[in-house]
Amino acid sequence: MLKPFEWKDRPALIEYLFPVQKISVESFKEQMAGAGKTLTALGSYWKGRKPLILNKACILGALLPVSDDRLKDLEIFEMLMGMDSQTMQQRLEANLAKSKHHTIGEYLILPYNEQVKKARRPEELAESLFNHIWEKVNKHLGTKAASFPELVEQMGIARFGHRPKVADVFCGSGQIPFEAARLGCDVYASDLNPIACMLTWGAFNIVGADKEKRAEIDKAQKKLAEQVQKEIDALGVETDGKGWRAKVYLYCVETICPESGWKVPLIPTLIISKGYGVIARLVPVPGEKRYDIDIVYVKTDAEINEAKTGTVQGGEMLHSPDGITLYRTKISTLRGDYKDGKENKNRLRLWEKSDFIPRPDDIFQERLYCVQWMRKKPSGKGDEYQFRAVTADDLEREQKVIDYVGAHLAEWQEKGYVPDMVIERGY
Ligand SMILES: C[S@@+](CC[C@H](N)C(=O)[O-])C[C@H]1O[C@@H](n2cnc3c(N)ncnc32)[C@H](O)[C@@H]1O
Repeated sequence: MLKPFEWKDRPALIEYLFPVQKISVESFKEQMAGAGKTLTALGSYWKGRKPLILNKACILGALLPVSDDRLKDLEIFEMLMGMDSQTMQQRLEANLAKSKHHTIGEYLILPYNEQVKKARRPEELAESLFNHIWEKVNKHLGTKAASFPELVEQMGIARFGHRPKVADVFCGSGQIPFEAARLGCDVYASDLNPIACMLTWGAFNIVGADKEKRAEIDKAQKKLAEQVQKEIDALGVETDGKGWRAKVYLYCVETICPESGWKVPLIPTLIISKGYGVIARLVPVPGEKRYDIDIVYVKTDAEINEAKTGTVQGGEMLHSPDGITLYRTKISTLRGDYKDGKENKNRLRLWEKSDFIPRPDDIFQERLYCVQWMRKKPSGKGDEYQFRAVTADDLEREQKVIDYVGAHLAEWQEKGYVPDMVIERGY
């Protein structure tokens, strides 16, 4: 057996072995756990999450050295991953209580992927799941660990002279730094996207908080949400006065067609909801050279398909006020694209710090064209929805919001609640 100091210059385990099939099965199980995943409580809309178990495998695989006994290396690695037969037995037993018709023996003869389906994930169970592995792990690696952080620290010192540092500069939701920290590494994380930074912060400080802190945070969040709702209700901008609350506001960009002089909404598709069978219909108003936008519930697939094509197709704006003459204008023409030497420029006005809606003479205007409303079903179970065209009342409520934001934006920027800096060009 190699001595700890001899581990220093050995290649990493992951360069020689990685039980891909087993790790794939475990990763799939975690991905399919949906709301049961450790970090999904934060930002369930974040799509790029990697499974924590895969991160664990990569981090350990990169940290552990390869020895001259590959079979032993694999055995130890599988133990650390909770994939050895003894750990699997405990993982299965943890689930057995739920199923009265099977015994452990029936499960243990199944192929690995079937066992995983019936078992709990290692991270769902207490650390004691790994109690039986440390003696063997220590014997193989020359460590004195009784937990992952101890093993990781000791291996880090043996290999690099210090506790391992993991830096993830594209951290997204923070899965990698979260798992690395849980294993006991020192971690550094950053991301271009402020939401990603917030999710990563939340992974550490909310999901990673102890029970009492979590309860305290939950209480504070609830209080804050109630307070915000109260203020919104006081402004009267989110309800229609008839028991419905707005869920979604659909906006489009609108611009003047240089050929016809008509004001045209830019909507790539007029389908609003396939599921509910809702489409938008453009109704020409010749006297004012603009379109009303009706919201219509249709019955057939053919009607839905007919609405597929909107006013933006293949980089062009298309519209026909009379159904006969079709006007086409390239979006690049609308934007006023031109070349200044080698640089591509256009005639769009850059927004300034105080801008949050277009100015009246901007090329692209914004237009609210549909509101999805919701209310509790009369049965009390779940919500019902309605898509409606925009009314004068909606526009009045929108104006209230515009006035409110206009009156407060500078203060919010001052306090750092909302961004106020230009995103710089280039690297
Ligand atoms: C695929 S996601 C990472 C997912 C993450 N590993 C997880 O499990 O959630 C890639 C991330 O890289 C970030 N990114 C892209 N370009 C970047 C840059 N130049 N600097 C920093 N972050 C960047 C994106 O904002 C995105 O969050």
